[in-house]
Amino acid sequence: MSDRIQNIISKMTLEEKAALCTGASWWTTTPIERLDVPEMMVSDGPHGLRRVPDVHMVSQDSLPATCFPTASCSASTWNVELVRKMGEALAEECIALNVDVILGPGANMKRSPLCGRNFEYFSEDPFLAGEMAASLINGIQSRGVGTSLKHFAANNQEFQRFSISSEVDERTLREIYLPAFEKAVKTAKPWTVMCSYNKLNGTFASENYRLLTEILKNEWGFEGLVVSDWGAVHDRVAALKGGLDLEMPGPQESRVKAVVEAVRSGKLDEAILNESVRRILNIVFKAKETPKKGTFDVNAHHEMARKVTAEGMVLLKNNGLLPLKGQQHIAVIGQSAQEAHFQGGGSSHINPTKVAVPFKELQIHVLDTEFSFAEGYPADNSFQQDLIDEAVTIVKTADVAVLYIALPTFKESEGYDRADLDLTQHQVALIKAVSKVQPNTVVVLNNGAPVTMDDWIDGVAAVLEGYMMGQAGGIAIAEALVGKINPSGKLAETFPHRLVDTPAFINWPGGAGKVNYGEGLFIGYRYYDAKQIPVLFPFGFGLSYTTFAYSNAKVSKKTFKDNDGVTVMVDVTNIGKVTGKEIVQVYVHDQKSGLVRPEKELKGFAKVELKPGETKTVSIPLDFRAFAFYHPAYSQWITEDGDFDLLIAASAADIRQKLTVTLESTLKLPSILDKQSTIREWNNDPLGKSVFGAFYTQIAAQGKKIFGGGENDQGGMGMDFMDMMGDMPLVSVLVFVQESLDRPADDIVDEMLNQVHNLKK
Ligand code: BGC
Repeated sequence: MSDRIQNIISKMTLEEKAALCTGASWWTTTPIERLDVPEMMVSDGPHGLRRVPDVHMVSQDSLPATCFPTASCSASTWNVELVRKMGEALAEECIALNVDVILGPGANMKRSPLCGRNFEYFSEDPFLAGEMAASLINGIQSRGVGTSLKHFAANNQEFQRFSISSEVDERTLREIYLPAFEKAVKTAKPWTVMCSYNKLNGTFASENYRLLTEILKNEWGFEGLVVSDWGAVHDRVAALKGGLDLEMPGPQESRVKAVVEAVRSGKLDEAILNESVRRILNIVFKAKETPKKGTFDVNAHHEMARKVTAEGMVLLKNNGLLPLKGQQHIAVIGQSAQEAHFQGGGSSHINPTKVAVPFKELQIHVLDTEFSFAEGYPADNSFQQDLIDEAVTIVKTADVAVLYIALPTFKESEGYDRADLDLTQHQVALIKAVSKVQPNTVVVLNNGAPVTMDDWIDGVAAVLEGYMMGQAGGIAIAEALVGKINPSGKLAETFPHRLVDTPAFINWPGGAGKVNYGEGLFIGYRYYDAKQIPVLFPFGFGLSYTTFAYSNAKVSKKTFKDNDGVTVMVDVTNIGKVTGKEIVQVYVHDQKSGLVRPEKELKGFAKVELKPGETKTVSIPLDFRAFAFYHPAYSQWITEDGDFDLLIAASAADIRQKLTVTLESTLKLPSILDKQSTIREWNNDPLGKSVFGAFYTQIAAQGKKIFGGGENDQGGMGMDFMDMMGDMPLVSVLVFVQESLDRPADDIVDEMLNQVHNLKK
């Protein structure tokens, strides 16, 4: 602890300490003037600043700020450098608008495409989400502005988000729901982490000692402060004990009193309070090292937002119509061509500095062409056939129809989940009617999460997924339509054919206070792989105006030690006619494993720009964690000796090259054998085997006598007893052959367990 902070704490009264741990307003911490402790200002987040002018108001017209594309779009760039630069721009706006900490990014997993808030989250894959979160944090914090990594943890739906308990087993938590946070915390060191509203396995995240103290602070070494989501604290004292340092918003007089009383009555150890005070003071003073002043460059940031959209939008279908060229008459249809739909509803809603109008931008980019326009669909949920009729009339005489279709806010927002994955009935009817008379129909989508397309996709020539594209998205879309830029985004999530195909379908959204994460590890492509369910567009998929060839895959070492990892190298060649960027993905497949694992998992990627004819060698490192899985019985990440396939891919469904490597584990694992361990587990455990091996031969012979069984004898009961015996606890088998033993079965197993235990030392 720095002397300065120690000195301040020693002078603080109990009341001052308790007050510091709760905000002074919606957006500020409590200052202590007599000790020169300033207030700290925080604001939403995550893809732009929602800086409310009056800190005592939760919502109000916020100060103008750049609305960058939301996380589903920025993640689709797979460009960590670009996302880092976006972070730098966000920080500049914080500095200009007097904000110390921006509330983001969100690193929650997309368990179901129905989550209303998925637009604010990066991916269904923890590796990709972790990389994105870390680079955004690095960008922001490199300028002396703090971040709040949120919502920690297992907050994957909006339904009953304030109270529901996410029921998640330990392995799933470690392998799916925590790694993006873990990566960001360990590598980017966010100043703050925001706990979520929900309960995790029955305990509110805000009071969850295991989550906030044991895992986040002790295991991952988080040195910043944990802030509550707004209103997530229920019992202030329990929350402090759990590891929640700062409660927001404030003021909350009764909470402050409760803390003071708890310390006085001995219910709360003052050392716990002091630790939270220390963490808060640390960040408050760190924040003040960056003077807040000046302005930001509105145009430069608008351009940065455009760049992110340009790499984040995903070309999903193209029969060759795109890029547009030489058309004499373009019919533009869709309300969102005039009223850009570029962000989502809720706490992340930004008052943009300016907004590019998609239709206008298209007119700027396509000269000497006649344009016509029809609204196509209404802003509300009504059905207006006349709008469809008008659009059909216009497109008939055009060379091409460009339909701008935006998923309306009543179908997708923070605060509620989606009821289905469909566009509005009106929009679907419009697309079908237009594409029926105009085969050259391009659909431009603006939505935060996957929509179904089976009803209409076959009839259209092209689909460009623009996501919630940020305030400059209209420009990037126009540029992509005309080929001024070459789309290079790839999906950070799977687009399913149908809602019923999705991983969490039968466990969604829960009830009676609980949601059971019954699909376990198998979300996103992990699920579609396991069930062999065809999807509309796979994870990692996106088209380009050029084509890439992969060749010459190599690995730094065929046989390697887990701690050393390996590096995969592959040559990528642009074999098309225009410059483009390719996203190379490396998935790891474990050929044989002690516990069930997903078929393959993303463990590395790289984005590379190539001119026509150009070849570059892409190198992607894979570390210990690329091969490890979390073993709940060992309570740690483990590796196992054996062969792994490295799948070098253009998407989760497009594997271009495969290499096989052999891993040698350096782990010296303790034995996890216990009284109920099965014969097979004794045999598979190296320490167990050394103790049990000889004895096994004896029991096997004895068992065979008693049960019959073995290769040709089924012992009169029509089953293979030896096989069954393998899955029986050793102690149970010994009870069956007790007559042939000189001591009670229990004693024998206890003795052997002791021997194993001694071997460990
Ligand atoms: C949201 C957070 C947000 C906070 C402050 C909460 O309702 O869940 O993401 O940062 O409000 O607006």
